[in-house]
Amino acid sequence: MNAICDELYITTDDGSYKEKGFVTQPLERYLKEKKEVDLVYGIGPIIMMKNVCRITKEYDKPTMVSLNPIMIDGTGMCGGCRVTVDNKIKFCCVDGPDFDGHKVDFEELMKRNSLYRDDEKDSILFSIK
Ligand code: FES
Repeated sequence: MNAICDELYITTDDGSYKEKGFVTQPLERYLKEKKEVDLVYGIGPIIMMKNVCRITKEYDKPTMVSLNPIMIDGTGMCGGCRVTVDNKIKFCCVDGPDFDGHKVDFEELMKRNSLYRDDEKDSILFSIK
């Protein structure tokens, strides 16, 4: 479920509740109608935050995102949560998790977050057996 504050828009991917689709659809409608938007805040799946930023950049609206990379030690020492923001290396656990969404390298973040996908699947299968 995704929401836009001020007025509440709720979307579900499958249409099981309120509007069918992604939050980016009401967001874009909202930005088209309302010129006075101080800040857009994106929290959720990386692909959603990436697309929110794509739209808000088009409308020149400041956007903060709360990133959720893989975290291991949470101290800035392991490097697990490394993200690139404004072409600089940041560690989400100590420098974030909130960043200017228009400066985040989402492609890299998505690649890094999928590094252990096969191991995660194996782990789930192993725990079910
Ligand atoms: S979780 Fe290890 S550096 Fe951030």
